[in-house]
Amino acid sequence: METQSHFPYSFIERVIISEADIEARVKDLADTISADYLDSERLLLLGLLRGSVVFITDLMRKIRRPITMDFMSVSSYNKSESSGFVRIDADHKTNIRGWDVILIDDIVDTGYTIRTVQKLLLDREPRSLKVCVLLDKPERHKVDIAIDYLGFSIPDYFVVGYGLDYEEKGRNLPYIAAIDLNKGGG
Ligand code: IMP
Ligand code: MG
Repeated sequence: METQSHFPYSFIERVIISEADIEARVKDLADTISADYLDSERLLLLGLLRGSVVFITDLMRKIRRPITMDFMSVSSYNKSESSGFVRIDADHKTNIRGWDVILIDDIVDTGYTIRTVQKLLLDREPRSLKVCVLLDKPERHKVDIAIDYLGFSIPDYFVVGYGLDYEEKGRNLPYIAAIDLNKGGG
């Protein structure tokens, strides 16, 4: 007889970052950002769809500065092999020239996504460009990138929750959980 998992998805192994820990860390990041951009009149939070949505909506409500928000959608040509080719599926609408831009994503794995988008944005001449991500897997980096605002460093687990997905599942979980792919996709 199979026991019912207390997680809503059967592939979840265990929680690695609790809802309370995420909330506290997001508050810290927002406080730091609020202090760093005191002189900024045009601050744009630019999120990468779809993984950053939960993070950016929590973060923005804790930033005590005027901000605007925009999104881009990007994907890797060959996800499984981390080919390093990143395709822009939908571009942001804001003309970022002269803006202070914070590029926001859910997680850095190889670093190709952030590096590619960073290069593209710099060509558009923002006043400044920084990177803010909730999670980083430093063991997996294939390129050098600087993360200005980081939530948590984690080991090389595949994780879901708080916006992150496994094959589009798990984004609604309020915590970050490691998954066990042998447990199937339910
Ligand atoms: P990178 O270009 O290799 O750094 O990949 C970053 C992107 O891969 C993230 O924006 C996520 O969409 C996805 N990704 C990498 N690791 C994970 C994970 O553990 N869970 C969910 N998505 C991940
Ligand atoms: Mg992503």
